[in-house]
Order: sequence, then structure tokens, then C-alpha cells
Amino acid sequence: MTSFAEKHKKLERNVTLLAIAAFAVVTVGGIVEIAPLFWIDNTVEKVEGVRPYTPLELAGRNIYMREGCYNCHSQMIRPFRDEVERYGHYSLAAESMFDHPFQWGSKRTGPDLARVGKRYSDEWHVQHLKDPRSVVPESIMPGYAFLADRDLKAGDMTGHLTALSRVGVPYTETDIAQANADLVAQADPDADTTDLMQRYPKAQARDFDGNPTRLTEMDALVAYLQMLGTLVDFESAAPQEVER
Ligand code: HEC
Repeated sequence: MTSFAEKHKKLERNVTLLAIAAFAVVTVGGIVEIAPLFWIDNTVEKVEGVRPYTPLELAGRNIYMREGCYNCHSQMIRPFRDEVERYGHYSLAAESMFDHPFQWGSKRTGPDLARVGKRYSDEWHVQHLKDPRSVVPESIMPGYAFLADRDLKAGDMTGHLTALSRVGVPYTETDIAQANADLVAQADPDADTTDLMQRYPKAQARDFDGNPTRLTEMDALVAYLQMLGTLVDFESAAPQEVER
């Protein structure tokens, strides 16, 4: 009678048979791990407070990508003590659920920016972006002074929001219809933003670049930086972290 070990010997000595068997094992294992994710609709748990970007924040985000800020800055705080103590609560998957594409980044020449919102004043950001070394003498970050001189030409935000809504970002019909007006209103200190604030809770509306007469790329970028990580209220969200 051939023992199990004897039979297994055959498998180990026949390279083709071994390859087929190994492939079968990996395939079954892979399906078991991956397939459920296609059906479990709470793979990304919803977290209270997370909302789509306002048109102005979105325009600022586009400048962030255009200028390659992600080459030096990550936007993902890992759940390690040193990171949490330095940057704040670790990032939740839901916080980037409306990011197309996400800005997690893979390199930190500068600090993580996932929770930089409201940490500094608008004036600090403008000064820092114009001339980083004037506020952080040892900084190696390049200057972006031109952003304050360039009018924001964000393009048709109606189309931008429509495209995002097609990939699942829950913009309402009003959000889309109002997109171009919202873009301007959020940075205009004289505009009535009551409706905008209702549709985009916790949005910050004001002149961001220190020049209320113009809507510049600086306005959009600072508006984006100032909202990063400010949507989820981690104090009251504590129960979400309870083990289940
Ligand atoms: C060559 C790498 C590099 C690039 C590109 C870069 N930065 Fe930085 N950034 C740094 C470094 C280094 C620091 C830390 C020193 C300082 O505060 O200037 C920093 C700091 C910052 C801070 C302050 C963060 C904090 O918590 O103190 C902000 C905000 C920031 N950068 C935004 C941006 C934006 C927006 C862009 C794109 C327009 C950008 N950076 C591009 C390297 C970079």
C-alpha cells in the first residue's frame, strides 16, 4: 500500500503536476479572500460627516494634483502611535471614499497633510505657499507665489460634478446645477452662502487668499487645505471604534 507520503512524492517530483496543484490552491485561496468584497456593500463603512467636496475645494484639489504636491506630501495617517501623536487620528477609509483619484501618496518629504485643515490661519498658508522659508526657515519646499496672481480658471464645474456623480459621488441635482455659482460664492465674502452651507456641511466660506476682489488659484488651494481632515468629528465618533 502506498502511503500518503509516497503519493505526495510523485507530486513533488513532477514539476508540471506541482505547478498545476499550486495554481489550484492559490486560486481557491484567492477567491475565498477576494470574492466576498464584491458583495459586501459595507466594505467601506460610511462615517458621519464625510461629504463630497465643494466645487471650490475640488478646484483646489485639482491644483494640488497639477502642482504635484503629492510627490512630497502623503494624506494618510497610519494607525501607529508616533503618527497619531504627530498628525492626529489615523485616517479612515471612508474619509477618502469620494476621492477620484485618492491622494494617499507614497512619500513624505514634507509632513502628512490629511489633517492639516484649520491647523494654521489662511494668512499662514498664503505666506507659506508664496515663500516657505519666510515662515519655516529650514524648509525645502518650493514656492508657489504665482498661484496668487493667477485667476482661477476651473473650467465647467457642472461637467466635473456630473462626471464624479457617475462614478458614485452623491452630488444632488442642485449641487450640479449650482456648481459654477458655488465655486465663486464660497470665496466671495459678500455672497449669500446659506444654501451652500446646508448642502455642504462644515464648508468654510470666506476670502482665502487675502484679496477679496479676485478669485485666484490660491483661494482654491487654501480652501482645499483648510478642509482636509475637518469633516469627521472624532470626539463624538469614538463609539465607531468600539470592537464588534
Ligand atoms: C519638494 C517637496 C515638496 C513639495 C513639492 C511640496 N511641499 Fe509642502 N512641504 C515640504 C516640506 C519639506 C515641508 C515642511 C517644512 C515647511 O513647513 O515648509 C512642507 C510643508 C507643507 C505644509 C505645512 C504642513 C504642516 O503640517 O506644517 C503645507 C500645508 C504644505 N507643505 C503644502 C504643500 C502644497 C499645497 C504643495 C503643492 C502646491 C506642496 N506643499 C508641495 C515639501 C514639499
